[in-house]
Parts: sequence; C-alpha cells; structure tokens
Amino acid sequence: MTGGTTPELAPGETVTLELPDAEATRAFGAALAGLLRAGDLVILTGDLGAGKTTLTQGLGAALGVRGQVASPTFIVAREHPPLPRADGTLGPALVHVDAYRLGSLGELDALDLDSTLDESVTVVEWGRGLAEALTDDRLEIDLVRPRGAVALGAEDPEAGVRRVTIRGVGRRWAGIDLAALAPIA
Ligand SMILES: Nc1ncnc2c1ncn2[C@@H]1O[C@H](COP(=O)(O)OP(=O)(O)OP(=O)(O)O)[C@@H](O)[C@H]1O
Ligand SMILES: [Mg+2]
Repeated sequence: MTGGTTPELAPGETVTLELPDAEATRAFGAALAGLLRAGDLVILTGDLGAGKTTLTQGLGAALGVRGQVASPTFIVAREHPPLPRADGTLGPALVHVDAYRLGSLGELDALDLDSTLDESVTVVEWGRGLAEALTDDRLEIDLVRPRGAVALGAEDPEAGVRRVTIRGVGRRWAGIDLAALAPIA
C-alpha cells in the first residue's frame, strides 16, 4: 500500500485520511467493505473526478459482487448482485447510484431504492441533499482534491492525492471506530 496518514480522531467522530493515488482510493473502498453490511447507505460527495467511482470499484471488488462498477452515461442506478463466497454464503448486493443528473427527491424515489436497501449496500454518488431521505443512518464520505495536489509537469491532470473524510450518522454508526480504516490508506 502506498502512503497513508494518521487519523485525526476519536471513535465515532470524523476521520480524515489521505489517498495518494487511485490504487489507495480503491484500497480504501475495499477496507470500507469490511465495515458495511446489508441495509447500509453510503453517500459520496466530491467534485467531478474526485474519485467517487474509483472508491466504489474497490468496495464492489471487496464485497464480491457481479459486474464492473462503472459510470456509464445514462445509467443512474445499477444493482450488482452478490457472488457466492467460498463457503457458499451470499453477502449483500451493491446498489451503485449516480445522482448527478437527478434534480429532485421525486426522481430519486422513482429509482425505488427502498426496495433493495435492506439486502444491499447502497452507494449514492452526488447523493448529498437527496439520499438522506432513504434511511436514518448513513456514512458520509467526502473526497477532496487539495489545491496544488497535482505535481508540476504531471502528465495526468487527474492524478494526485485525495483527502477523504468519513462521518457516520445515526445509531448504526454510534461507537463504531472508523479510524480502523486508517492503516490501509
Ligand atoms: N488519489 C486518487 N483517488 C482517486 N482517483 C484518482 C486518484 N488519483 C488519480 N485518480 C484518477 O482520477 C479519476 C477519478 O475518477 P472517478 O470516476 O472515480 O471520479 P468521480 O468522483 O466518480 O467523478 P464523477 O463525479 O464524474 O462521477 C480516475 O481516472 C482515477 O484513476
Ligand atoms: Mg463517478
């Protein structure tokens, strides 16, 4: 694993980590899978290209779900069913939503995420201000590209460290030590 920083925090509060590259962001998503279970909602916030889908790819791979997590144009929500584990059991599905083009709660309602919520981990990119209506508990994850993070002369303008902040909201997350996510990042 590349890089990593010390978490700034006490259990149950906000944790901030640095993710030096896309691989670290995927690894963070994978570590997150270890905390998540069916019924959980994750709201991802961050500018275009901040790494929301990249994080969800790591999460989907670690959950062991069918299909590639991607951001295809015109597809707002995609359900990735669980693949059978080695012991034959099934984990949660991953429901991956990109709410960028959704303008209203009514449009989110039309996706009927309620019907899959209980058996799935539901991840909503651009979900802030909309997806909170789905359930009382959620993980809020913010991805930020710090100013000046792109090295001078870097070939890839997308490259560079991301700062991720995680906050648990609701009883589900009370007392859960999000700092446990730190060593992998
Ligand atoms: N530290 C990093 N974390 C995440 N992505 C990174 C990092 N460094 C470089 N990248 C690159 O930045 C891009 C992030 O794109 P991604 O689709 O994950 O962003 P997004 O937040 O989902 O964007 P959108 O708002 O368009 O959905 C990818 O090409 C990825 O490889
Ligand atoms: Mg995306």
